[in-house]
Amino acid sequence: MFIDTHCHLDFDQYDEDREQVIQRAIKNNIDAIISIGTDIHSSRESVLLSEKFATIYAAVGIHPSDSQDADETMFRQIEEMADEKKVVAIGEIGLDYYRMYAPKDVQEKAFRAQLRLSKKLELPVIIHNRDAHEDVLRIALEEGIDDIGGVFHSFNGSTEFLDEVIRNKFHVSFTGAVTFKNARYENLLERVPVDNLLLETDSPFLAPMPFRGKRNEPGYIKYTAEKIAGVKKMPVEELAQITSANARMLFKLTD
Ligand code: NI
Repeated sequence: MFIDTHCHLDFDQYDEDREQVIQRAIKNNIDAIISIGTDIHSSRESVLLSEKFATIYAAVGIHPSDSQDADETMFRQIEEMADEKKVVAIGEIGLDYYRMYAPKDVQEKAFRAQLRLSKKLELPVIIHNRDAHEDVLRIALEEGIDDIGGVFHSFNGSTEFLDEVIRNKFHVSFTGAVTFKNARYENLLERVPVDNLLLETDSPFLAPMPFRGKRNEPGYIKYTAEKIAGVKKMPVEELAQITSANARMLFKLTD
């Protein structure tokens, strides 16, 4: 009943027990998982996982922190991979002004190139945004991505920025970080309309309580869902049903 719309199952943190992690996710009522690429290699690995496991879908893209060497050849490779049947989005792409592994103009170039790809292929985008709120939204709108749609993953902006993102019909998703003691997330969760909401784990990062600091995995999504359902004052089953329907619609998931 849950859909984990953002995790990195190709990462080497799962090399020892990837199959068990996926089985545990299924046991914990997860019926779809989107494994997200961050560079060419990781995109390719995510596609391979989607071919191997029925539950897994893939997104392909170059992360802003990996955009230093991004060039036309890479974007063409992303485009070719995006043609695979279970690739449901371009991502994760965006801007990261927090780590700043690549200069702003280099990040923007890669972001724009992949937004155009998303538009051309009619695939929604999975947006990574750290401390770049205005630029990310402005560039996405300049490239006309509001027609295609996408998700601001691991949302961490202000309530005003949340309103702007929602007004432009984007989805947002929150990680296990919402289970930490943090009033800011409570305000964001109260404010976000459930129709724009998706669930994610961002595994192997940001494990929810009671696993904070440990390796995260899709099977832990229920802790985040329970927290959000609590704030929304609705049964967790209802939240799962609504957010899964949102994900199925945005990513056009089929069985
Ligand atoms: Ni991610």
